[in-house]
Formats: sequence, structure tokens, C-alpha cells
Amino acid sequence: MQVQGLVDRYDRVATDLRVSLTDRCNLRCSYCMPAEGLDWMPTDDQLTDDEVVRLIGVAVGQLGVTEVRFTGGEPLVRRGLVDIVARTRALADELGLPVEQSLTTNALGLARTAGTLAAAGLDRVNVSLDTVRPETFATITRRDRLTDVVAGLEAAAAAGLGPVKVNAVLLRGVNDDQAAEMLAWCLERDYQLRFIEQMPLDAQHGWSREQMITADEIIERLEARFTLTPAREPRGSAPAELFRVDGGPATVGVIGSVTRPFCGDCDRVRLTADGQVRNCLFARTESDLRGPLRAGATDAELADRWRAAVRPKAAGHGIDDPTFLQPDRPMSAIGG
Ligand code: 5AD
Ligand code: SF4
Repeated sequence: MQVQGLVDRYDRVATDLRVSLTDRCNLRCSYCMPAEGLDWMPTDDQLTDDEVVRLIGVAVGQLGVTEVRFTGGEPLVRRGLVDIVARTRALADELGLPVEQSLTTNALGLARTAGTLAAAGLDRVNVSLDTVRPETFATITRRDRLTDVVAGLEAAAAAGLGPVKVNAVLLRGVNDDQAAEMLAWCLERDYQLRFIEQMPLDAQHGWSREQMITADEIIERLEARFTLTPAREPRGSAPAELFRVDGGPATVGVIGSVTRPFCGDCDRVRLTADGQVRNCLFARTESDLRGPLRAGATDAELADRWRAAVRPKAAGHGIDDPTFLQPDRPMSAIGG
């Protein structure tokens, strides 16, 4: 079959699909959601496991998607996760396509499921962890669960879900003094650490440009203890600027989503848990696939809608633009 991919008006091609499986989460990270949580998506609005797999099949089989990353909220709280991974693997194998599957997770419960997920066909995990101090962890996530995350990371590595990546967000006055400590901790365990600039995607609209820790500041804090040298030039569609630590081979990544945007090389497209295509994290509009799917659309029709959804993708997120408006959906309902 001739694949006509997801090409936008600037000729970027989306091959990396982020699938949000739920907007729920068992943590309450202060930069993501309020302590009381959010009004969760009604179950009827959510795609069923069958519907998720059907749409992944369209993406992989007809639209040239080669990477599928499951996100949330917290994807491990979705009951059907293992089944969805197994069926995605089966359909990729059937088509003879080397689809890479990964999971962005807070790792709560991963200690129990890492082996099963690997056996089902998951390739890698990205674990969100902003501190290795129990008190700071409780402050940021409002839950005292650091030991579960550490156990989840160990289980992921043991199950072969590597290279295990750790994503960290630094918050001024909370954990921004812990960047080097986190790097040392990850180096000891052979986890690949990447710092991500905080983006205006929180449900409470508490983000501010002045408060955010910039990529420059992250590098400065790391250089207080380590020598960093650029490890990859140019960075291509990979958002992380990679640095060799103390001459290498270990590396650390810095993702300057706000101050060093990589929109020109973006290869992502997102599917929300309720079946909406988002062509950008910061898009102000979405395209519904659930309605047509439930109304009996064919795979070819769904693929056409998906292409049409990606085509008008904006050139950049425009966070620095005075007219910038945060999207209506918070990060937890879009998927990281
Ligand atoms: N800015 C940057 N990263 C965020 N995450 C959640 N909210 C934000 C934000 N506003 C991160 C999580 C996780 C990934 C899904 O996105 O920490 O690593
Ligand atoms: Fe949950 Fe991730 Fe939001 Fe933290 S950032 S509350 S782990 S969805």
C-alpha cells in the first residue's frame, strides 16, 4: 500500500504519535493540576480499547507513523494498557512494520507491570521524576510515593525497557537546587536524564515566564558540578540538546521547549483519550475522530480526516507572542 503520510503545510511529517489513554493521575504535581484533581473525562467520552487500537492501526498502517508513545494523565491507571500494547505490537508485526512503542509514566505501579509490558511488546519507558529527595517529592506531587517510583525505575531497567529515560522539571525555589544531585543519581543507575523547561500547560494557569527555570539556568546549575560538552549537532527532530557529562559516554539532555523551541523540526501528532487529534501541544483547535469512528467511517476516511487535521499545524507554539493563549486542555488531558 502506498503510504500518504501526515504532512503539514510547512512540509513537516508527523511520524511520532502520542496517545493519551486517560486524563486521570494518581499524583497531583503542583505544576500540572490542583490538589483536588480535575473534573475527569466521562468514561463514555473515552475511546474504548478497541477504538484506540483501531486508530493506532490507521496511523501505523496508512499514515506512516513509526513511533507510538502512550501517555496520560498516567497511562498505567488505564486498565487496558497491556492489551493495547500487545495488540499494537501484533498489528505492526502483521504489517511487517518496525513500530517502536514507549510509555511516559510516573512509574507508580510500574514495579508490578514492567515485565508484563515488556512481554506485550513495549520497548521503552520515560519516567517523570523531578527529585530524588522524599520530602521534595511529596511537596511537588502532594503524595509520599518516591519509593514506588524508584522501584518502578529498577523494574523497568530489569525488564529491558531501556534505555530508561528520566524526565525532570525544575521549579524555582522547590527543586532547582537539585539538578546536579539528580544527574549524579541517574548516572549511578545508568538512567538517561533529561530536564524539560516548564511549559504553560497547567490546569491552574499558574505558569509564568519569570518563574520558569530556563535551559540556560539548567545548564549553569549542572556545570557547577559537571563538565558538559555538546554531544550531538545538529539535534534534528529530537527536542533534547544532548551534552556529554565529564567527557562521556554518559549524557544529559536539556529540552528548552520555551526558550529554545524545536517546532521547525517537530514530528509529533497527538490523539487525546476522547479521540481528538491535536497537531500541537499548544493547538487551540482539535479534530474529532471519535464521532466519525462511532458513525461507521472506514479506515480510509479516518486517515483522510487525520491528514486534514495535521495539515494546518502552526509554525510554532508562539509562547513569546503577546497574543499567546494557553490551550483549553491542560497537559494531563493532552498527553506529554
Ligand atoms: N511543563 C513541562 N513538562 C510538564 N509535564 C507536565 N506538565 C508539564 C509542564 N507544564 C511533564 C511531566 C512528564 C511529562 C508528561 O510532562 O513531568 O514528564
Ligand atoms: Fe500526574 Fe504527570 Fe500531571 Fe504529575 S505531571 S500530576 S504525574 S499527569
